Amino acid sequence: MKLYETLLNQLKKEPNWVTDDGELKKWVVIDRARNYDPDLIKLLLANPKLKETFFVDVEGTLIFKQEQFITFMEMKNYLNDSYTQYKNKVGLTIGGKYLKQRNEVALVWPFKDCILEGGQSREEQKREEIFFNEILAQDEITQLLEPKVLTNAKVFDKDGEHAFTSFNRDAELNKKRGLPEDTITDDLIIKGNNLLALHSLKKEFAGKVKLIYIDPPYNTGSDSFRYNDSFNQSSWLTFMRNRLKEAHSLLSKNGAIFVSINHIEIGYLSLLLDEIFGQENKLPIITLKAGTTASYRSINDCPVNVTEYVLAYSKTSNFRPNAVYRESSYSEDYSHYIINKEESPDKWQLQSLTEIIHKKYGCENWREFKKKIGANWKKKRFEEMEAYAIENKDSVVSLNTLQKPSKKIQEVIDNSKATRNKVFEVEREDADNIYCYNGRTLAFFSSKFRDIDGEQLPSEILTNLWSDISFLGIGPEGGVTLENGKKPEYLIKTILELITSPNDIVLDYHLGSGTTAAVCHKTGRQYIGVEQLNYGDNDSTIRLINVINGEQSGISDYEDVKWKGGGSFTYLELKKYNQIFIEQIEEAKDTDTLLVIWEQMKAKSFLNYNVDIKKQEEHIEDFKALSLKEQKQHLCELLDKNQLYVNLSSLNDKDFECTDEEKQVTQDFYQIKD
Ligand SMILES: C[S@@+](CC[C@H](N)C(=O)[O-])C[C@H]1O[C@@H](n2cnc3c(N)ncnc32)[C@H](O)[C@@H]1O
Repeated sequence: MKLYETLLNQLKKEPNWVTDDGELKKWVVIDRARNYDPDLIKLLLANPKLKETFFVDVEGTLIFKQEQFITFMEMKNYLNDSYTQYKNKVGLTIGGKYLKQRNEVALVWPFKDCILEGGQSREEQKREEIFFNEILAQDEITQLLEPKVLTNAKVFDKDGEHAFTSFNRDAELNKKRGLPEDTITDDLIIKGNNLLALHSLKKEFAGKVKLIYIDPPYNTGSDSFRYNDSFNQSSWLTFMRNRLKEAHSLLSKNGAIFVSINHIEIGYLSLLLDEIFGQENKLPIITLKAGTTASYRSINDCPVNVTEYVLAYSKTSNFRPNAVYRESSYSEDYSHYIINKEESPDKWQLQSLTEIIHKKYGCENWREFKKKIGANWKKKRFEEMEAYAIENKDSVVSLNTLQKPSKKIQEVIDNSKATRNKVFEVEREDADNIYCYNGRTLAFFSSKFRDIDGEQLPSEILTNLWSDISFLGIGPEGGVTLENGKKPEYLIKTILELITSPNDIVLDYHLGSGTTAAVCHKTGRQYIGVEQLNYGDNDSTIRLINVINGEQSGISDYEDVKWKGGGSFTYLELKKYNQIFIEQIEEAKDTDTLLVIWEQMKAKSFLNYNVDIKKQEEHIEDFKALSLKEQKQHLCELLDKNQLYVNLSSLNDKDFECTDEEKQVTQDFYQIKD
C-alpha cells in the first residue's frame, strides 16, 4: 500500500475527521497537527510505517516531524486527485506553490470569516464547511477591511416602510449625552458580515458606544444552531479576536462590553478578553441559570449543566456601573415593631413580631401557636410576619451589630447596653440618624425598599448570580423564533440598567433574532444591530416592526416599561459585489448553472490576479469532469475576496455600478461632502 493510502486509512479511523461523503477533512487534520494534537499523534504512532515516516527517535524520545507531515498532507496526499491535477493545469498557483504553502501569505482571520460569510447568507444553509476557506495576504486584508458602500436603506415606523431620506443627527440630544453634535441619532439595523460592518461603523461611532452586548456562536459543534458554529478552536478564537478588537475601539471611555458564553469556551474567551480589554478592567463573571433538570437525559449527564455565563469588561478601570437592585425575600432579622413610632425615639417601645403574630391567633407563646396551627406552624408564622413587615415597613426594624463604629457612636451603643429597653438617637448631618437599643443599632425594613422594574419592593444589591432570569418560555418573545440561541429580554434589560441610561448607544453585532435591539427600543436606548443572516419571518426587522406596533411579550408589561409601541429604525445593508457570485455558486444545483455563473463572472466579477481566463477556458472539459463540490470550490477560489463587498473608495467607480440612492446613503453616513 502506498504511504498516502496507509495514512488515509489510519486517519479515517477517527470518525470526526471524515465527512458524510467519506472524505477526509484534511484541513481539520492539518490544524490538529499544527497543535500537536495527542489524538492525531497517537493514531500516527499506532501504525509502524507512519511512525517511522513522521517521527524521529532522539535518544529514546520520539519527535513529531510536524512540518513534514503537514507538507505531505497538503501535497502528496492530494496531488493525485483530479481536482489538484486540474488546479495545476489551470495554473492557480504562484511559483508552482499553492497560496497556502507560500510563506509570505499570512494565516489570518478571513479563513473562517469567509466560511461564515460565504456559506451563511440564508437561514436554511446550515451545512458543512465545504469550501471557500481561503487565506488572504496582509495587503488584501487591509483592502477588505475598508469601510463599505451602503445599500438598500429604508426606514420603518408605525406607518410601515419608507424610502430613506437622510440620517438624523439631533444636536440637542448629542449635547445632552456628551457626544459630537453631528452623531447619528437613528436606530440602525445593518445586514452583512459583522467584521466588515464594525470597520464601517468606526468612522461614525468610534469611542461613542456605551455598551456592547454580544451572544456569539458558542463553538459547540452542535448542529442544533441554525448557523454554523462548529468552528475549530483556533479559528473560533481568531474569529472572536478580530471582532473584539474593533469592538474595543467603538466603546466609549466609560463603556463596557458583555459577552455571553458557555462553560466550554469561557476559559479561552476570558484569556482573549483579558488580552484585549485588560485584566484590570474585568468585572465579575455573571452566572445565569439558563436550563433546568428537564435537560437531563441520562445518569452520565450528572451534574446537569444548567448554567451559562456573561463575561464583562469595562473600557477603563475608573468605570462606575449603575446601582441595580433585585427583589429579596423578607428575612426574620426584621424582628421588631415600634409600637409608638409617632413619639420621640427615646420613648419608643419595641415588640417582637413573633409575639404580635402569636397574639393575633390568641396564643401566649410559640407552643400554643404550634398546637393551634399544626405541622406547618413555622411556615405560617413566617408568612404572617412577612405580610406584617411589608405593611408596616416604616416601623419594623432589625437589631444589628455595627461594624467599626466611630468613637462617638460606640459611646452611645455602650450607654444603650447599660440602660436597657430604651432607644438612643445619634443625629448625623451627612447621613441618616443612628438608633441604638440594648447595645445594637436599628435598621428599618423600609430602607430595603427600592424601585425594581417600576415597583417598590424589598431589595438587595444585584450580585453576579442571576438565577431569577427565566430562559423558559422565551421562544415566542418578540413574535419571532430562533432555535436555541435566543436570549431572554429580561437579561438584556438587566444589563442595560447596569451600564446605560436612556439615549446611550448600544451595539450588538451578533443580533440574531434582535433581542438586544427590541429591548433597547422599548427602553429608549439607541441601538446598532448587525446580523449576517436573513431569518425571513423570524428576522430581527420583523421583530422590531412588531415592537413598533406595540407587541406585548418579554419586558413590555413591566411597570417601568409599559410598552405602547412607536418609534422607528433604519435598515441598511453592506453592498455586495463578488459576494453575490458566491451566493449564486452555493445555490447552484448542477454544472450547467455553474457554467452560466462562470460566464457572468467573466463579464462582471473581480477575479483573482493570478487567474488566467484563457487557461480556464482551454480546460473547461476537465472542469466539467470534477465533482459539483469541487467545481463550486474552484469557482469560489477564482473570485477576488477583496471585492466581496464594495469599498467606500469605489463608490464612484463605474465598474461597481453604485446607484444614486446608494451614493446618497453612503455619503450621508460617512459625512462625505460632494
Ligand atoms: C446566538 S445568535 C444571537 C442570538 C441573539 N442573542 C438573540 O437573542 O436572538 C448569534 C448570531 O450571530 C450571527 N453571526 C455569526 N457570525 C456572524 C458574522 N460573521 N457576521 C454577522 N453575524 C454573525 C449568527 O448568524 C447568529 O444569528
